[in-house]
Amino acid sequence: MGSFSSITGAKKHNAASALSAKVELRRNILDAIGAERAHVFDAYSGPGAMHAAVWSKAATYVGCDEEWFRDERRVFVADNQLVLRTLDLKAFNVFDLDAYGSPWEVATIVAARRGLTPGERVGIALTDGTDLRLKMSGVPHAFARLVGMPARSTKLVNRSHDLMASKALGEMARRMGGRIVRRWVASSTIKAGMQYHAMIVEGCPDTQAISGS
Ligand SMILES: C[S@@+](CC[C@H](N)C(=O)[O-])C[C@H]1O[C@@H](n2cnc3c(N)ncnc32)[C@H](O)[C@@H]1O
Repeated sequence: MGSFSSITGAKKHNAASALSAKVELRRNILDAIGAERAHVFDAYSGPGAMHAAVWSKAATYVGCDEEWFRDERRVFVADNQLVLRTLDLKAFNVFDLDAYGSPWEVATIVAARRGLTPGERVGIALTDGTDLRLKMSGVPHAFARLVGMPARSTKLVNRSHDLMASKALGEMARRMGGRIVRRWVASSTIKAGMQYHAMIVEGCPDTQAISGS
């Protein structure tokens, strides 16, 4: 594991592994929202490591995975993009986008469909494994659109992955009608180029949510 830092806070950590960093990012979100007020949509819920470590303490939890894991959790066994386009996302104030590859398509749907009222807070955890793709075959389209760039650049773009992720997260917040008030990031030196993000977005009185897709 590489570095783990709080961008808007003072804390700095060195996590022993990707798993512990991912858990810590999610604990930060749960602490910021308050467990008793946290209503989690876990879009890549998998075998449930994040649920066991953190989300089981939230007030409510709904998972989603295209694979069925037979356990006690309430989970949609379906494609997360379909589910996120169908549900009323106001029911949730925490979104976990723990993808293997690009989370940006799903992030775009959340940003378009989860507008914020002034002062309202939503936590988003996001695993970005697009780095290898940036090297090999260009930028995923949804990522490029959030960043506001053409989708074709490759090597130059790869060096700017951190910057691009920052821009994409800021753009998500803007589309939701809010701004980022807390942000944490960890990056992996073991799993090539994996980045782990968490943020709290707060609705602004002067920013209107941009609904779409
Ligand atoms: C990194 S794992 C998630 C691990 C999980 N967060 C946990 O705590 O154990 C990614 C998961 O995403 C699921 N997945 C990939 N694409 C998906 C999609 N389009 N819709 C729903 N689930 C998807 C995979 O089946 C896999 O279980």
